[in-house]
Amino acid sequence: MTGKNSDGAPYGSGGIGFMDGDFMAMSELRIPVTDMGFQLADMCYDAVHIWRRRFFRLDDHLARFQAGLDKRRYETLGYDIDTIADICHGCVARLGADDAFVMLIATRGTPAGPNKDLRTCKNRLIVWATPYHAIVSDTEMTNGCDIIVADTIRIPPEAVDPTVKNFGRLDFVSALFEAYDRNADYAVLLDADGCVTEGRGWNIFALKGGVLLSPDSGVLEGITRKTVLELSADLNIDGRLARITADQLRGADEVFLTSTAGGIMPVKSIDGNAVGDGAPGPVTQRLTELYWKLHGDAALTTPVNYQLAEGPLVES
Ligand SMILES: Cc1ncc(COP(=O)(O)O)c(C=O)c1O
Repeated sequence: MTGKNSDGAPYGSGGIGFMDGDFMAMSELRIPVTDMGFQLADMCYDAVHIWRRRFFRLDDHLARFQAGLDKRRYETLGYDIDTIADICHGCVARLGADDAFVMLIATRGTPAGPNKDLRTCKNRLIVWATPYHAIVSDTEMTNGCDIIVADTIRIPPEAVDPTVKNFGRLDFVSALFEAYDRNADYAVLLDADGCVTEGRGWNIFALKGGVLLSPDSGVLEGITRKTVLELSADLNIDGRLARITADQLRGADEVFLTSTAGGIMPVKSIDGNAVGDGAPGPVTQRLTELYWKLHGDAALTTPVNYQLAEGPLVES
């Protein structure tokens, strides 16, 4: 069971948001156009899911968010990580959903004067919860999706640190339009040396001769990626991070994408050529089964505090 993608519903419909100390309908969330989050993509974020009333790996997501805040020097957010966790609970509780998806975003904020000195900004926290969704359709989840290897390269890690989850993503935009032009919906980007990195919203894995590889650099350190590597160890599969060339990816027996928004998503073709026999492979299927089973593991999950639906608003 991998959850439901709300095909056809407008993105974000029915969500509950939090901003400037207030909970509100997600459709009411607004940032000023003067926020550097809008003007410079000067922001960082994280996304966590809730499955059967429990957050999955909430502590890992909060730790990654905190690391992003520190690396980007967001020092005036005004909320500590425990309060941010309560706000996440508050959004999910108000949404009232059993399966949900929470985004937590920090933006730089609006500078005080026309020289836009970034040190004068008051950072802004935005959180929202929506019903659970995946980034691929239900059909793709079952049968696999079609990806291309884009000509556009990933923004180099020396320019923008990809371990800070961020919306500075025009490389993904160009790559996605390449994909649309080549009858695919998703694109994986290479780095300047021709090695595989990631796509918008996911890490990638390739299985060849029983060895499971995922790119070791130039990517977000995905929490689903981490979970898959742990599961592969449990299954005695040699799973590791490595440099992967585009040709190695194209020649793999099985390929899948990993994301909090979808879990493990099989790939059925690359550049129009079938991966393996074109159906999700046995290792992909076994890992998917175990991944969802882990969502009942008390050590990796946190029950949603649905009591926080009625709590007082948090002061910023
Ligand atoms: C660029 C990028 N890579 C990888 C991932 C997967 O990370 P995670 O498994 O933590 O959701 C994401 C998630 O949104 C992402 O945006």
